Amino acid sequence: MIAASADRICDAISRLGSESAFEVLARARALEATGRKVVHMEIGEPDFDTPEHIKEAGIGAIRDNYSHYTPSAGIPELRECIAEYASNFRKMPGAFTAANVVVAPGAKPIIWNTLSALLNPGDELIYADPAYPAYASTASYLQAKVTPIPLLESKNFRLDLDELESKVSNNTKVVVINTPHNPTGGVLLRSDLERIAELAHKHDFLVMSDEIYSRNFYEGEFLSISELPGMKERTIIVDGFSKAYAMTGWRLGYAILPEDLAPVVTLFNNNTFSCVATFVQMAGIAALTGPNEPVERMNTIFRERRDRLVGGLNKIPNVSCIVPEGAFYAFPNISKITKDDKALAKFMLEEGGVACLGGSAFGKAGTGYLRFSYAASLDDIDLALERLAEHLPLYKA
Ligand SMILES: Cc1ncc(COP(=O)(O)O)c(C=O)c1O
Repeated sequence: MIAASADRICDAISRLGSESAFEVLARARALEATGRKVVHMEIGEPDFDTPEHIKEAGIGAIRDNYSHYTPSAGIPELRECIAEYASNFRKMPGAFTAANVVVAPGAKPIIWNTLSALLNPGDELIYADPAYPAYASTASYLQAKVTPIPLLESKNFRLDLDELESKVSNNTKVVVINTPHNPTGGVLLRSDLERIAELAHKHDFLVMSDEIYSRNFYEGEFLSISELPGMKERTIIVDGFSKAYAMTGWRLGYAILPEDLAPVVTLFNNNTFSCVATFVQMAGIAALTGPNEPVERMNTIFRERRDRLVGGLNKIPNVSCIVPEGAFYAFPNISKITKDDKALAKFMLEEGGVACLGGSAFGKAGTGYLRFSYAASLDDIDLALERLAEHLPLYKA
């Protein structure tokens, strides 16, 4: 193997971020290999199996020889299904057609390819801090100007809209929102979305609305900014199958975007992965047209786990955690213990056998928080709470 030396690597690499969940997962697995029991609350993936009817559709598609290339935007039947599902789920029957849909191997690559189609060097991308790392990583790689807007715990981790208003300008090309939100579980209210929409019209920016957790919603009804007047034309919805259908490893996601942008994003698909595995696309059709019951069952279980975890965290001295309304993450404030959240997360993994992430891995405003994924069994959540209660008081900052 040739060792990579610095002079072989291009400068642009220094602008890429990374998702620390994968690094912590690797360390947790290494500890397990030495015989330690680790509770996994680091990685954002449902611990459920993919529902049977989806697995059967994928297996059937392989048997039926769905094993050839497809159009780069995705097979028309899947794109039609996505358009119909997305229109109905967002209470706008008929709003989208296959021409608005581009399919990719996961939501992450569609974020990359869409931003690549939009951002010139120097264009501004505004995003929430803390946030899923892919937005700022991609935009920085593209030499865009990245501007974070803090999320406020005092507002249940909703955006500070006054700050947004003071930062947006006619140079702002894209504002990324993510509701329900990773890593905080926060949800934007109708009034937040209305104000963002007003700014979008005024300053003529696009909203990339990452709605991958739109099915993991526990209080009330999901609202997409694309449903607001005039916003369908300026919203790029990012969504996918990973979280709602427990299909993280299948790799299937998509964007719903204005018709004129779809071919440009498709060109990036064409130049990178060509198309998504054909039998995976067929399984996606089964997911969207099959029974809703598995999605609802998973959500009921997530909700029970959320309540157990948040209730338990709030009983631990010097820890406070607001109740997340969506996704499957809890984001407790641990700033009374230490500001060095990453060191505390490392301590909990090495000493306490609980894998979680430091909030600052998602941006500066995440400093003083930990992120727990509650895609873990109730028994594991109880064990994690026991270990946290035992070890956190021993931590020396
Ligand atoms: C907010 C958000 N968007 C997008 C993704 C990417 O999902 P995938 O690439 O598995 O579809 C994730 C995964 O954790 C996420 O949390």
